[in-house]
Amino acid sequence: MHTVSMTVNGRPETVRVPARKLLCDVLRQDLALTGTHVGCEHGACGACTIRLDGRLVRSCLMFGVQAEGAEITTIEGMADGEDDLHPVQRAFWEKHGLQCGFCTPGMVLAGAKLLEDNPDPTDEEIRGALSGHVCRCTGYVFIVDAIRHAAREMAR
Ligand code: FES
Ligand code: FES
Repeated sequence: MHTVSMTVNGRPETVRVPARKLLCDVLRQDLALTGTHVGCEHGACGACTIRLDGRLVRSCLMFGVQAEGAEITTIEGMADGEDDLHPVQRAFWEKHGLQCGFCTPGMVLAGAKLLEDNPDPTDEEIRGALSGHVCRCTGYVFIVDAIRHAAREMAR
């Protein structure tokens, strides 16, 4: 077992975990942050996406012990409260950018990172930013609409 200390959604956290435990499982099982979803467990679907030291990371491709000292943001850290959603979360809600919601945490994190880097993306750039994220439900059209809508709202 190893002791791992990290900052998650602004809070210092310390866990004791086996060396082989995936970061997504540490977040879900040890920290009860079940908004990080686990689909493929081999880096293909994007459901487990988090921010780690600012970068988008697939938490199924890292061991928890590799997060020692890291600053992590999960979907739970995107909103300041139920009434204070991140603009990308609000846009997904308003534009029906989800159905079952399984892909949604990864999509929201990827959309928010895109708009940080590129506040006025083209539809092609939005699709490019989401290209590593699989959605089985929506056909992606409403997800692209939601991110375009969020960009407009954030520019106001
Ligand atoms: S569960 Fe990590 S990319 Fe699919
Ligand atoms: S909303 Fe169901 S997988 Fe995307």
